[in-house]
Amino acid sequence: MPDWVMVLLVVTNVVTLVALYLATRRMLKLRRQKRRAFAFKSYPIRQVKLEEVDPCFAMTEHGPAPESTVAFIGGEGVVASLSDRETWVIAGLAKSAGKIFEFGTCSGKTAHVMALNAPDGAEIHTLTIHPDDLASLQFGASDDRLHRDVAADEAAFTTFYYEGHPTESKIHQIFSDSKAFDDAPLKGSVDLVFIDGAHTRSYVESDTTKAMSMLSGHGVVLWHDYKPDAPDVFNYLNDLARELPLVHIKDTDIVMYRRG
Ligand SMILES: C[S@@+](CC[C@H](N)C(=O)[O-])C[C@H]1O[C@@H](n2cnc3c(N)ncnc32)[C@H](O)[C@@H]1O
Repeated sequence: MPDWVMVLLVVTNVVTLVALYLATRRMLKLRRQKRRAFAFKSYPIRQVKLEEVDPCFAMTEHGPAPESTVAFIGGEGVVASLSDRETWVIAGLAKSAGKIFEFGTCSGKTAHVMALNAPDGAEIHTLTIHPDDLASLQFGASDDRLHRDVAADEAAFTTFYYEGHPTESKIHQIFSDSKAFDDAPLKGSVDLVFIDGAHTRSYVESDTTKAMSMLSGHGVVLWHDYKPDAPDVFNYLNDLARELPLVHIKDTDIVMYRRG
């Protein structure tokens, strides 16, 4: 091979390597900048208006469409209740859900409201830890201490809001630690999952893994308590939002994921 060809080859290779090095460095810098910008926003997950949550919340010239009408009970005096706007959101989504799963029953008011709005024949599975089984809670070593106590305090219920009401026929009450719960029989079948159980990192992570496995092809997952006051939930969802297109519903503490 003539010398000039050899030189040309060496020069071409060096130029290509330098170009690749510069492009990679630039790409890594941009990625770092994007991550830093995300971390510095006080609520980094993208906010959406109600009308972007579901077609039933479409806006008309007079306000929310009549399709957003729900059967509703306010949160007055209810332990760990959702806000009235959050109840409206979850009730609206329940209207098109054949199967619903709730992590964290508490008083059972939200399970009752979801059952009131879900179609005939719908099933609402709601899971809570029985107060006699608090010793079986499996907190992780770095789980938020305050919210370990909150989880135990809110597990005071053995009777529920819906009892004796027609909604009871739609509701399957499950008593279990959520980490011990076997989600396999519901795999791929649930249209709406509401995650509102223990608000500690290891639990919200485990509940989310189970939610994703139970979710149907067009299902929706909602997480409650996306706020700095629930730091394990807040930080976990901010991390998860780097992998999944999560949205934060405006004027609520709810984050939503829609599959499909
Ligand atoms: C914030 S409250 C739920 C409120 C309810 N979703 C509502 O909207 O009315 C949390 C519930 O999660 C339950 N819980 C906490 N840790 C749990 C665990 N490890 N497994 C199952 N349920 C748990 C508590 O007993 C309590 O009932």
